[in-house]
Amino acid sequence: PQPLRIALAGLGTVGAGVIRLIEANSALIARRAGRPIAVTVVGARDRGKDRGVDLTRYAWEDDMVIMGERADVDVVVEMVGGSDGPALACARTTIEAGKALVTANKAMIAHHGLELAAKAEAARVALKFEAAVAGGIPVIKGLREGAAANEIERVYGILNGTCNYILSTMEDSGRDFADVLAEAQAKGYAEADPAFDIEGTDAAHKLSILAAIAFGSSLDFAGVETSGITRLRAADIAQADALGYVIRLIGMADVMDGAEGKCLFQRVQPHLVPFDHPLAHVDGATNAVVAEGNFSGRLLFQGAGAGDGPTASAVVADLIDIARGEIGAPFSVPVAELEVMTTADA
Ligand code: NAP
Ligand code: HSE
Repeated sequence: PQPLRIALAGLGTVGAGVIRLIEANSALIARRAGRPIAVTVVGARDRGKDRGVDLTRYAWEDDMVIMGERADVDVVVEMVGGSDGPALACARTTIEAGKALVTANKAMIAHHGLELAAKAEAARVALKFEAAVAGGIPVIKGLREGAAANEIERVYGILNGTCNYILSTMEDSGRDFADVLAEAQAKGYAEADPAFDIEGTDAAHKLSILAAIAFGSSLDFAGVETSGITRLRAADIAQADALGYVIRLIGMADVMDGAEGKCLFQRVQPHLVPFDHPLAHVDGATNAVVAEGNFSGRLLFQGAGAGDGPTASAVVADLIDIARGEIGAPFSVPVAELEVMTTADA
């Protein structure tokens, strides 16, 4: 069978992880996908940088924006980052060229997901973003497909690995915030600008995507009330502990009945979580998502929320779906059928 030919836009933590995974598991992937998945083209800013992977067997493309227009590419994987700029231009040209797009970029999907999804639906190409929410946990697939038969009223969880790493490490060791953040950056968990992590924006991007998938509602990133962990200190963690709680940054979205129909309440903020709650035991860069389905009951998805291996696992799972010929609406239903809800007041 013809291989599925992949272009990798971005070769940082996630991009290099995707190369390592595809090289290590190529035979298994080909069996499960029904055909080989072959990287043909790669690109980033600095061609000379040592990324710990051998790039000599792939063509190099300097311009992320035209990757999807190349004749040797069927799918582009966007791992550049940023809500706009080259990532968005790359996504648009790829879909407009009639090629599938896989992305790990939650900022871009939170801001432009509906536009990109509408374009992908019109072009009948796949747009997939499993890696954008909760790293290696197949939570988009779990909610979009596994829980598809359920009404979901609430979805919540720990959505940022960097913040959870900081909070749980400070809790265990009493170490300083800045010191633990630097460690999370060195491990590849943090965003290029870690303010997105510690100010709660990254978790808000993910929550808005998760809510749209869980409720079949229109994306509403602007409606997420967000506060991060920048003002938390070791003393806050110690005081919470004395009262029987840990502090976790939680994103929570509920659908409520309002005067004018359904409304959506989305917020990201540090919470006091009692020791006996399952989220109190989620440590390190782990993420956990809870969804309550009206027939499934409570679903808990938990696993590594950041880092090269887990994120690459989610990216390549999307590629396998595409190799199998799965297109489907990027969200739970086609964009035109997503329910537009008002934003609930706090
Ligand atoms: P990263 O390590 O900073 O890598 C970004 C890559 O994009 C680098 O290879 C960089 O090139 C390239 N790049 C940046 N600007 C560019 C430009 N203008 N033109 C061409 N290439 C450019 O980031 P990452 O951690 O891999 O994250 C990538 C994406 O995945 C982001 O959207 C992030 O939010 C998302 N994500 C990350 C994780 C994680 O755990 N790290 C998990 C889930 C999702 P150079 O290397 O040459 O500088
Ligand atoms: N910076 C993100 C986090 C990467 O720490 O969760 C995974 O999306």
